[in-house]
Amino acid sequence: MRRPFIAGNWKMNMDKAGAVALAQGLVEACKDIADVDVAICPPFVYLDAVCQVCKGTNVAVGAENCYFEDNGAFTGEISVAMLKDIGATYVILGHSERRNIIGECNELINKKVKKALAGGLKPILCIGELLETRKAGKTMDVIKDQLEGSLADLTAEDMANVTLAYEPVWAIGTGEVATPEQAEEVHAFVRDWLTNRFGAEVAQNTRIQYGGSVKASNAQGLIGKEDIDGALVGGASLKVDAFMGIINNCR
Ligand code: 13P
Repeated sequence: MRRPFIAGNWKMNMDKAGAVALAQGLVEACKDIADVDVAICPPFVYLDAVCQVCKGTNVAVGAENCYFEDNGAFTGEISVAMLKDIGATYVILGHSERRNIIGECNELINKKVKKALAGGLKPILCIGELLETRKAGKTMDVIKDQLEGSLADLTAEDMANVTLAYEPVWAIGTGEVATPEQAEEVHAFVRDWLTNRFGAEVAQNTRIQYGGSVKASNAQGLIGKEDIDGALVGGASLKVDAFMGIINNCR
């Protein structure tokens, strides 16, 4: 049985006071939640403050990115060791905004995934197709490419620390959520791919979140599907009530 996992991706939002207040509000609201894993992923500059608020609570903290080198002359980059040092548990990798706006490719994302795992951070690896890809009937081809490329060289043991997040790009920040059936079709495809690549046990144990315009009112229908194990939430993770609505509706 896979335990639901709800993570908030705050993206490039908020100020420090707002980030701390939101983390405090969530820690308080989540203190009796024992049946769902919850994580929040603030911008780098607020990570330390948010980690301090969440330390010893049942709200875990993740970064929104990391770099694949240990240290050195990589201006503007943040290492896995730095994130571990301040108490982060997770790292979102391969988000569509990094793939499509910043230009990250599967090869780079794969290096980051491997480095995160080697350093003890748990990747939340995002995959998802553009609208034109879906319209061209090529969704599964792109998803397969992203999985093969981003998870290259990983072992079945590595997969115990990896969460996948299916985020159709056309559903991110648009209010246009995938229907539970549309999402489930891709999630089932991903689980089949996992079975072929890593075996049935890994496939059954790996959590696959859905992301893209998730809110309290649509979370239940999505998470009720067999292969949807939680949500990666953008906009609706920026307010305690909206995020808690999603968490409570998937219990
Ligand atoms: P929205 O929930 O704002 O659509 O964002 C989804 C997302 O990109 C989470 O990583």
